[in-house]
Amino acid sequence: MKGVFDKDHVVSIRDFTVDEINTVLDYAEKMVPIVKGDKISREMEGKILATLFFEPSTRTMLSFQAAMQRLGGSCIGFANPKQSSVKKGETLADTLTVTSSYADIVVLRHPQEGAARLASKFSSKPVINAGDGAGQHPTQTLLDLFTIRDEMGNISNNHIGIAGDLKYGRTVHSLTNALAMYDTELTFIAPPGLQMPDEIIKKLKKDGIEYHKADDMEAVIDDLDVLYLTRIQRERFPTEEEYEKVASIYNVNRNMLENVKEDMIVMHPLPRVDEISPDVDDTKHAKYFEQAANGVPTRMAIMSLLLETYKEAME
Ligand code: NCD
Repeated sequence: MKGVFDKDHVVSIRDFTVDEINTVLDYAEKMVPIVKGDKISREMEGKILATLFFEPSTRTMLSFQAAMQRLGGSCIGFANPKQSSVKKGETLADTLTVTSSYADIVVLRHPQEGAARLASKFSSKPVINAGDGAGQHPTQTLLDLFTIRDEMGNISNNHIGIAGDLKYGRTVHSLTNALAMYDTELTFIAPPGLQMPDEIIKKLKKDGIEYHKADDMEAVIDDLDVLYLTRIQRERFPTEEEYEKVASIYNVNRNMLENVKEDMIVMHPLPRVDEISPDVDDTKHAKYFEQAANGVPTRMAIMSLLLETYKEAME
């Protein structure tokens, strides 16, 4: 796999080629039997993962820790920076210099865009970006792509609707960058003030990607193969009043799925607030819990490829 996946860090999905993405997805598939307990792997034995989370997380942090432990490694870290020396005024640079001397791989989530790139400059070990402000969330994208491929058979040839907070949502920024490498049709569903940033749209235009913008979910939902919903990113709004104007803008419920395509899937990176009503959960369209579960094999694959432990595992 060397040559196809040759990375020091995972900071942005834009640093990936389509071959590298496909390598991760193929390898993640091989990890599924280990997650299910049908196979045992110790390929990370003796390795330590550090999870440094400066913002709240459930899925990302726990699935990274589960991934490391499924491969026989162990974990250190913090989920609450108030209990770390950051509270005493320590810089991100010093935190990375030190923690990378304790661990073999560092996963960082931080409210500032660009934090992971900066961290990678001070870390002596691979850094994985688990979300940097409104910037990127590359491992979420890889598990999103894994889910689309697994459910739909392929990533290309799908009409994918991306809805919600497209302005501040890092998951949708990374996902759009990645989907642009495949042959998909994209529809961005958001009120005008929360549409996809110009910079991302410009890149789509440059790459000749077919995309549309929409405001009304019901006008487009029946035409989609994949509906990817996201939470309005309350914490990134300048004021609470600004947030209130757009809160609860999209609520997909069972009735709205009545005329959708037979095999259309509904995805969400979670946490959901009120974007998807619980009555959707037991429809055949709901795939967001499978999506969350796919975080484990995908992150196992990413770490194995980064640390090159797959080499011994395959001997
Ligand atoms: C997302 C995030 O942190 O960007 N969560 C996740 O990692 N699954 C989505 C969100 O917080 O809305």
